[in-house]
Amino acid sequence: MFCSAVEMFGLLFFVLMAHTAYGDVSYSFPEEMKRGSVIGNIAKDLGLDVNRLSIREVRIDNEGNRKRFCDINLNTGELTVAERIDREEICGKKASCVIKQELVLENPLELHRFILNVEDINDNSPQFKQSVIKFEIRESAVKGSRYLLDEAHDADIAINSVQSYTLQNNEHFLLNVLTKANGRKYGELVLNKELDREQQKEVTLILTAVDGGTPPRSGTVAIHVTVLDANDNAPVFSQAVYKVSLPENSPVDTVVVTVSATDADEGQNGEVTYEFGHLSERLMDIFSLDSLSGEIKLTGLIDYEEESLIELPIQAKDGQGLASHCTVLIDVIDVNDNAPTIMTKSVKILIPENAFPGTEVGIINVQDRDSENNGQVRCSIQQNVPFKLVPSIKNYYSLVTTGELDRELLSDYNLTITATDEGSPPLSSTKNLHLTVADVNDNPPVFQEHNYRAHVQENNKPGSSICSVSATDPDWRQNGTVVYSLLSSDVNGAPVSSFLSINGDTGVIHAVRSFDYEQLKSFKVLVLARDNGSPPLSSNVSVSVFISDENDNSPQILYPSPEGNSFMTEMVPKAAQAGSLVSKVIAVDADSGQNAWLSYHIIKATDPGLFTIGVHSGEIRTQRDISESDSMKQNLIVSVRDNGQPSLSATCALYLLISDNLAEVPELKDMSHDESSSKLTFYLIIALVSVSTFFLTFIIIILAVRFCRRRKPRLLFDGAVAIPSAYLPPNYAEVEGAGTLRSTYNYDAYLTTGSRTSDFKFVRSYNEGTLTTDLTLKKTQSAVDDLEGLDAEMSDSFQVGLFIY
Ligand SMILES: *[C@@H]1O[C@H](CO)[C@@H](O)[C@H](O)[C@H]1NC(C)=O
Ligand SMILES: *[C@@H]1O[C@H](CO)[C@@H](O)[C@H](O)[C@H]1NC(C)=O
Ligand SMILES: *[C@@H]1O[C@H](CO)[C@@H](O)[C@H](O)[C@H]1NC(C)=O
Repeated sequence: MFCSAVEMFGLLFFVLMAHTAYGDVSYSFPEEMKRGSVIGNIAKDLGLDVNRLSIREVRIDNEGNRKRFCDINLNTGELTVAERIDREEICGKKASCVIKQELVLENPLELHRFILNVEDINDNSPQFKQSVIKFEIRESAVKGSRYLLDEAHDADIAINSVQSYTLQNNEHFLLNVLTKANGRKYGELVLNKELDREQQKEVTLILTAVDGGTPPRSGTVAIHVTVLDANDNAPVFSQAVYKVSLPENSPVDTVVVTVSATDADEGQNGEVTYEFGHLSERLMDIFSLDSLSGEIKLTGLIDYEEESLIELPIQAKDGQGLASHCTVLIDVIDVNDNAPTIMTKSVKILIPENAFPGTEVGIINVQDRDSENNGQVRCSIQQNVPFKLVPSIKNYYSLVTTGELDRELLSDYNLTITATDEGSPPLSSTKNLHLTVADVNDNPPVFQEHNYRAHVQENNKPGSSICSVSATDPDWRQNGTVVYSLLSSDVNGAPVSSFLSINGDTGVIHAVRSFDYEQLKSFKVLVLARDNGSPPLSSNVSVSVFISDENDNSPQILYPSPEGNSFMTEMVPKAAQAGSLVSKVIAVDADSGQNAWLSYHIIKATDPGLFTIGVHSGEIRTQRDISESDSMKQNLIVSVRDNGQPSLSATCALYLLISDNLAEVPELKDMSHDESSSKLTFYLIIALVSVSTFFLTFIIIILAVRFCRRRKPRLLFDGAVAIPSAYLPPNYAEVEGAGTLRSTYNYDAYLTTGSRTSDFKFVRSYNEGTLTTDLTLKKTQSAVDDLEGLDAEMSDSFQVGLFIY
């Protein structure tokens, strides 16, 4: 292990150091000399005879030391190194290393002590205890912090021990070398620049300890510094602003974006959690943020119309609460999710039917909440209606008529307005408008027939209906309510209202009077139908009334005179032959037709076989030749009958005198004074007597009453005189006007108050049931006439209940 140079040096050293003092001989020599190396010549130093050395059995006693350090060369007396001498092993850290040895000689026994003084050589390098010095230094350590380093050990001593330390050049640490009280040196690390775990997690340095030997030796140790984390880093987002686009109405659970922040710290200090910054409650409901993954998801629906740009502030925090922020900007993309809305403004629900084409009837407003094309709206109306939409200012349309309206044809319109946007797919909505055409009085009443014909039997009951007219008006309510009336005119010089009346509501025409065919056969009136509009419209129609005949006139005998001139006689020549014309009965009938078709019959004759009468001509002829035996006076009763149903008749008497000369008629007077005339005289006498008696009685009564009045208070009779007009019904009203009934006529008209349908109630005569057909009597007969009329025919026709005049 030792080089020869060292050996040489050692040898030289030994020479210099040889101690030759008597007594203890000591030898200084460096350790680690080669075996056999000469330490010194002890024989010489002790003055021993070299040649006798072997004889004296010289030897080295190592005083119980197990180890033999040196030998003696018996030939030369030199001490040589017996085995390796390591000072450090023998003496450790002692400053001087002295080994005591004894040299024993025999014959004579001699003992010499000598000392081996082993000198140190720098044969040991400084050494550290561990191969690695480990430190854990928090990165938050401040500059100037000190960290003690283990000292290095060098087995050598003194100058050969550790003299200095050096530290590998680095940016963070400096080495401070200190000396202990015992002179040993040690070092400490001084932090010269703060550590940053995030930059460098570990720092490895080499510390070198150097001793003072020549040449110096050194030992190294690695210093391993682990930089411990301090929470000195806030999380850092990968982007300060995350911009995303998202269609509105995206389904729930759609991932919007995943934000990510990293924290350079480690462990808890680097554990990043995410949360929202301040959010409105609405947005809180819509978005969720996974606190660990940073994933932002939809939990609700986003609506472009509500918010087109959404800003979400996000915060990231590490375990120690260091935070940083970023923003997520969501650009909401519009989706066509809003159908247009149609609003109708100021729409006239009622449109008069005379509105001109182009009349504005309403304003339509359409709106769509979507934007761009999704919000562009077109508006239309269905075809085939007389309305159209005219675009007005933005999103406004006016609804105008395009044609004439006619309520009578179509009174209601259901308009469907459709609004469609231009999105894809487009959305549309509809709105119904119900328009009503209001009535205008534009239609006059129209009669169902061009003219009306009414047939009425004469002698009709007044008030009976004879026909009805009807007109229709398609207008609405009062504009279409028809009221009938008679147009005033004259019929035969009398106002038409005295003939007919019409019910204004029903159009039923009533006869006001009883008609007489013999006076009036037909007439014509105009009926007016008027509606109640304002102004009213009207039209008229003619009604022809035809009166038909009834057999109400008896035949009237013109000849022989019905006055019954009984002295009128016809002369029949005696020589008259069969078939010769004797006389002729002439009769007329005021009726017409069958009712006036007369037939003649002989109902009584003095000699029934002598005369015949022509059934239709009324000519009286002899039936056979007159003979002498025939009576001179011949009486014939002739009856004239008409052909009515039932037929009416009249009779007359004919006096025939068969003679050739008037002088031959002596009993002419007798003929007139027959039985019946004497009877008449008798009746006359009775009548005269009765009248005279009645008159006398009357005079007496008058006188008696007058006499009594003077004696009694007048009071008794007062008030009993007034014939009360209160017999009239309480709701009696007069009806005036053309074509209607007037109270001046001898019947009453009732109006059922409160009703528009006026019902005429004719006051019936109490004896109407016995009313005869003869209403045209104008007789003002006296009581005498009454008596005269005692014959059956007259009394029948004398009960007259109702006069119309
Ligand atoms: C209009 O609509 C209503 C109900 O919506 C219906 O009763 C009526 O008959 C319709 N009228 C027309 C003319 O279509
Ligand atoms: C009748 O027509 C008139 C216009 O001629 C109109 O003013 C009125 O409202 C109409 N009456 C009804 C009930 O429709
Ligand atoms: C009756 O109607 C005709 C047309 O139909 C008209 O000319 C005439 O004036 C009307 N008469 C009256 C009195 O209204």
